[in-house]
Amino acid sequence: MRAHEAGALHGDIGNRGPAWLRTPVDVNALVPQLWPRHVARGPAGALTVAGLDVRDLAAEFGTAAYVLDEDDLRGRCREFRAAFPDADVYYAGKAFLCRAVVRMIAEEGLFLDVCTGGELATALSAGMPPERIGFHGNNKSVAELTRAVDTGVGRIIVDSFTEIDRLTALARERGVRPRVLLRVTVGVEAHTHEFIATAHEDQKFGFSLAGGAAATAAFRILDEDVLELRGLHSHIGSQIFDASGFEVSARRVLALQAQIRDARGVELPELDLGGGFGIAYTTQDDPASPHDLAKRLRKIVDGECAAENLAVPHLSVEPGRAIVGPAVFTLYEVGTVKDVDGLRTYVSVDGGMSDNIRTALYDASYSATLANRASSTVPMLARVVGKHCESGDIVVKDEFLPADVQPGDLLAVPGTGAYCRSMASNYNHVPRPPVVAVRDGHARVIVRRETEDDLLALDVG
Ligand code: LLP
Repeated sequence: MRAHEAGALHGDIGNRGPAWLRTPVDVNALVPQLWPRHVARGPAGALTVAGLDVRDLAAEFGTAAYVLDEDDLRGRCREFRAAFPDADVYYAGKAFLCRAVVRMIAEEGLFLDVCTGGELATALSAGMPPERIGFHGNNKSVAELTRAVDTGVGRIIVDSFTEIDRLTALARERGVRPRVLLRVTVGVEAHTHEFIATAHEDQKFGFSLAGGAAATAAFRILDEDVLELRGLHSHIGSQIFDASGFEVSARRVLALQAQIRDARGVELPELDLGGGFGIAYTTQDDPASPHDLAKRLRKIVDGECAAENLAVPHLSVEPGRAIVGPAVFTLYEVGTVKDVDGLRTYVSVDGGMSDNIRTALYDASYSATLANRASSTVPMLARVVGKHCESGDIVVKDEFLPADVQPGDLLAVPGTGAYCRSMASNYNHVPRPPVVAVRDGHARVIVRRETEDDLLALDVG
């Protein structure tokens, strides 16, 4: 019997996993909010995605692999478009960017947020119309700004006085008038991991509202009149469920909007509320739908504008995770199953922290399921780990898997579309997995698997 088979369920497990793990689960069930829409368990018990059996995907493309349900991603784009019909929805490309995804989001009517020259290059090479791109970043180089100006990027979100100076010089030199938003740090403590909260005072992004830098920056841009200040921007953090942060942020940013109007007689026509909308990684997460989110944000903005006697500005939002996160699962093959007596069962897969650093970096929670078959064996509490030389190389901290899981089985980990491939590394010289897009029974590689030749290509010594 393995360390945490169900026989021991109520004794052993109680001391370790979180409380929710003490309830035995149906290990074959797929909780809908965790999985891309077109994933199901087929008649043979294996997972299927858009009609394709994951065993066939594994045979054709190998493991580990990120599997993207393309129609799910497109559906999420459409939901955001429908929820924010009179706003611009920027897909935050940092969550995951490749040319195929740029085309998908562009076809679905979204705009694109990029934050480096590399992301900008990817967007442009996929044919993203530059006027539908917003360019972020706290340290844009002169070269990056030059490229943004010369290609006609739609909005540059300015983040420092140095950047205002650089952009002003560039605009004068080129005889153009770039459209900018001003990134404002509103002093909100978002309820999320400290590394992904971005609106408290003590951090690197934006102009401080409380310290007066935001107002000074706005006045400077307006007075110099070389850049076209379209509006204010605020992004409070990522993986946020609680709307109260957006409420405080909107209130403060609109108070600045009113201050600018009172001082300069100008009402800025746009307002960008950023992204950060949370998704479900485990059954414990309960995200709002884009529709509910939009209703709440709209109500907050309308209320604050009425209170400040401002016209409601044209809104934009920047969801990344909420578009791509739930549309992808990672498919792994189990290599070893190790019972560490009386402690824990470790299920090792052929990937790990190089394809998903989020568990190690943010203590993120994920879930997993046996993917190549169903099982009627009792559940055991397991830890899914990778193949890297580090004990913190954990993919899923605690999950019930059938007690008969064995080498050669496939595991699927949902919710890996955002910040997994985009933060992937070659740690231990493990080549990065491919991204396989599946739609209507067809699969295609949109980012190919890295090879050992790729790994050696930069090694020119
Ligand atoms: N807009 C701005 C200005 C941002 O900085 C970000 C994320 C977004 C939008 C999109 O946020 P989302 O909707 O995807 O939550 N690596 C971390 C997340 C870092 C987020 C950085 N900025 C993670 O894996 O959780």
